[in-house]
Amino acid sequence: MTEIEWWDYDDAAEMAAAVAGDVQFIIESAIDARGAAVIALAGGKTPVPIYEKLSAAKLDWKRVTIVPTDERVVPLGDPLSNVTMIAKTFLPKGARVMPIVSNAAADYKAAGRSADALMQDLHWPLDLCLLGVGGDGHTASIFPGPDYDEAIAGPKERRALGVMPDPLPPEAPVPRVTLSREGIITARALIIACSGAAKRKVIEQAIEQGPSSKYPIGRLLADVELPVDIHWSAE
Ligand code: 6PG
Repeated sequence: MTEIEWWDYDDAAEMAAAVAGDVQFIIESAIDARGAAVIALAGGKTPVPIYEKLSAAKLDWKRVTIVPTDERVVPLGDPLSNVTMIAKTFLPKGARVMPIVSNAAADYKAAGRSADALMQDLHWPLDLCLLGVGGDGHTASIFPGPDYDEAIAGPKERRALGVMPDPLPPEAPVPRVTLSREGIITARALIIACSGAAKRKVIEQAIEQGPSSKYPIGRLLADVELPVDIHWSAE
């Protein structure tokens, strides 16, 4: 049974302050324990105010490694690139922000394999995985399509893979590289940040449906042993 706690806020700024505070604490604890922190951060638009708030925290940023939870297979610097968005905020602070898709990848499958190799070189498990959720119930870049089963239930050692969403999501209609379910749920802390009544409804339904959920977020959360915090803002 997954242990889920909801945290509700009136608006994005209130949620940003709370989530940034939690992430700061997770990073500090990892630095205290191990001298370094490795975290995965969601792409998309919702977390932008969280990242702005977090980047103002007094942290030893050079000890912090950040990877995106997932990436669109586009060149670095492209407006759709998640790591480009994350790097804008955290590179100036001195954090190590690591792209997971190289411009040299021949196709999305090859991009996924090289992202997996890169993940194997990071300190594991991740100290934190911060996820977003799409209105269609996807999380990270775990989408229905030919790679769905592998993303949800592939070999345990596979931490990242290439994914071709079917249908392609209109907000970024390109193939993806994503952390696998296993890569996500083995993190030491799992936080979801989302907003709006529609997404809340999707997540609530997904949790209720459990392992047979029609939504990726439901499949991801079913039977997760780690406690999950879902931060939700009304707007
Ligand atoms: C991506 C994201 C994705 C995101 C959701 C929500 O690359 O598409 O990492 O999983 O978290 O699509 O995105 P918004 O916050 O923009 O609604």
